[in-house]
Amino acid sequence: MSEGALSARISDAPGDPIFGIVELHRADARPHKINLAAGVYMDEQGVTPILPSVRTAEERLLASTTSKLYMPISGDPAYLAAAKSLLFRTVGGAWGEIEPAATDCVQMIHTPGGTGAVRLAVDVVSRLRPGAEIWVGEPTWPNHTQIIESSRITARRHDWITDDARSLNTSALFDAIAAAKGGDAMILHGACHNPTGIDPTPEQWGEIAKQIAHRGILPILDFAYQGFGDGLIEDAASLRAFLATGSEALVASSSSKNFALYNERVGSLAIIGADAAAASSIASHARMAVRTMWSNPPAHGGAIVSTILGDATLRAQWEGEVSAMRTRITESRTTFAAALTAAGAGDFSYLLDHHGMFSLLGLTDDQLKRLRDEHAVYLVARGRINMAGLSAAKIPIVAKAVASVLA
Ligand SMILES: Cc1ncc(COP(=O)(O)O)c(C=O)c1O
Repeated sequence: MSEGALSARISDAPGDPIFGIVELHRADARPHKINLAAGVYMDEQGVTPILPSVRTAEERLLASTTSKLYMPISGDPAYLAAAKSLLFRTVGGAWGEIEPAATDCVQMIHTPGGTGAVRLAVDVVSRLRPGAEIWVGEPTWPNHTQIIESSRITARRHDWITDDARSLNTSALFDAIAAAKGGDAMILHGACHNPTGIDPTPEQWGEIAKQIAHRGILPILDFAYQGFGDGLIEDAASLRAFLATGSEALVASSSSKNFALYNERVGSLAIIGADAAAASSIASHARMAVRTMWSNPPAHGGAIVSTILGDATLRAQWEGEVSAMRTRITESRTTFAAALTAAGAGDFSYLLDHHGMFSLLGLTDDQLKRLRDEHAVYLVARGRINMAGLSAAKIPIVAKAVASVLA
């Protein structure tokens, strides 16, 4: 091999912390294996279904789409208008009524999934705030730090949770806000924190947003699970808290989870400017970044979302589907916590305080390996469990398996 070969002097890159475990599960030949590692919604049968509202929208699109022409760099205007209405909907307001502060000061960019939106947010920071560092509360979605570091930005880590993995470590968070320099950015999960399920209350969001604005830090809100916590509007309390400060913010949202459009790669970046001119100027730099990354986004997922949200009947149907997914997740939490106690694993009632699909069971790498080897149960680091992967049949099996590795 020549000295200049790409492969000279390298070893393999590490596997992805989440997809790596999902691959191990895929390769496991045991029929009773249980996948609680993937970050996707599953129904009682362990299937990630296409939502009926999505099917209807796709039928309409098949009949009406006439071209596969490129979209603008910032994406599909119909999707962007729909995504903006969903994010900034006024509490108690009709569909289409958005927070007044968002009317002129928000510019939207259509991205390939929430990952594309986070990547774009970080790229905008690297372009407009050279020297800025980006703060993340650990543990976090592992891709946050991978994305920050691949943009050659320093990731500054602080604790998000208390040592027992059960509640928010508010003092670590406020210490980090105090330690960041003006101009730094901080990534926060808008709702349904991945992997901990631990979200601030609306009152805590108000205080966090105030302190962040006061210190001149740019908040990057990663909002991948709108609707999976307390409700579509309730989950946006974090977003409204940042909007209320009048300071700039970036909001990365995803239609992967709440529309179950995982492989369509659809999401958006909302750029909240201090005023309309600021938002428009930041968006011009974001479009520059887009042009060098994916040029313009894939169309189909956005067309599905705008078809659903643009039709009152389909939108009501979809809201019902989101609500059904949320209810199943919450019921799984409650039943699983009780089953853990019944299996002798101890008191897991803290799981009921958490939001969204994930929580940490606080397991060591050895215990996780035993769960895989002895019980064919797959979880992610620290025992991140996907509550949507559970079912009435699987709950007692998983609870007994966890109790046995904890004994
Ligand atoms: C916290 C968080 N942000 C962003 C994403 C990205 O989602 P998408 O599949 O839309 O890229 C995920 C997906 O798992 C996530 O958990």
